Amino acid sequence: MEDKIERLKKKYDLTGQKLDSYLEGLLLSNYLSYWEYIHLDTLLSLQTPKTDFPDEKIFVIYHQITELYFNLCIHELEQISVNGINVTDNGRILGNNKIIDIDYFKSRLKRLNSYFDSLIQSFDIMIEGMDHDQFTKFRMALLPASGFQSAQYRKIEIASTNLINLVDKEERDQTVDDLSVSELFQKLYWKKGAIDLKTNKKTYTLKQFEKKYSSDLIQWAEKFEGANLWSKYEDLKKRNLVDQELVKLLKAFDDKVNVSWPMSHLKSAARYLQQKNKGKVTEATGGTNWKKYLSPRFQKRIFYPSLYTKQEIDDWGKNYVKSIFNPK
Ligand code: HEM
Repeated sequence: MEDKIERLKKKYDLTGQKLDSYLEGLLLSNYLSYWEYIHLDTLLSLQTPKTDFPDEKIFVIYHQITELYFNLCIHELEQISVNGINVTDNGRILGNNKIIDIDYFKSRLKRLNSYFDSLIQSFDIMIEGMDHDQFTKFRMALLPASGFQSAQYRKIEIASTNLINLVDKEERDQTVDDLSVSELFQKLYWKKGAIDLKTNKKTYTLKQFEKKYSSDLIQWAEKFEGANLWSKYEDLKKRNLVDQELVKLLKAFDDKVNVSWPMSHLKSAARYLQQKNKGKVTEATGGTNWKKYLSPRFQKRIFYPSLYTKQEIDDWGKNYVKSIFNPK
């Protein structure tokens, strides 16, 4: 106890403050409660459906849950990007700018994979968990909002790979290396996906999204140029420090973000937007040609293409898509 008081005194002396006053404050202050720490009342005040259909609440909450998981992913991606975070004895956090430690890298990749596993497994809450008729009605009150406008999803992609791998697939091969981040940014797949094919103009959903997030996302991309997951892998590889487990973890992450999660998501779109028996397709709230746009097979978004054979790249997402649109 005496030792702790001595250390505390030193801590406050360093900034010219008095331990005595802090101890007085401690005597007077209340105990921390769970609900304050978690900000439970605030959290539970954020579900505000736009209609009276009860299932809209499920839709809102599940999106919020997903955004929180996305935030966990971003938390890990940022830690990997600054080459690991050390927390010292007195709780101070120091970025470590040396080459990333492979065990640290792997442990953070495992976390990322487990967050996406949770999202993939829980997507049934959307696919099976809402009444079809209610969904088709309340969605009309949500126009032109779309999950397409999730900035955190875009941030995860940008922090995971070199920007060129997120360029629309038709342009990817022709795109030259020496484009600036903001030039490459204009060619990203989701910008092309949200162009109205008839008018050749950007959808309103895309325009709104760009207005709110473009400068933030370009800054984000600049921050992760040379510091994204792939760059970190390459740093290690140059020093012969990579192993098969690391490659496996990166490939698993690639599959989860670019095939398995998009497929669970596509299943929900197919359930609600593809009308039974009539084969009619309902328009998406964000206005994309969703059957193609959401399908890994057509998008061929691959974070780490050089880790795969040509055959694996050709077959990217192939089997899954067949099973969704032509179930046995
Ligand atoms: C019934 C449930 C859902 C349906 C029918 C649905 C439908 C769609 C559609 C059609 C798109 C394409 C963009 C557009 O034209 O609107 C889209 C994009 C997207 N949605 Fe959903 N969605 C559902 C649930 C979710 C959930 C729970 C999330 C979680 C945040 C989400 C996140 C996204 C994201 C990130 C995109 C962009 C994907 C990309 O650019 O590849 N969606 N959604």
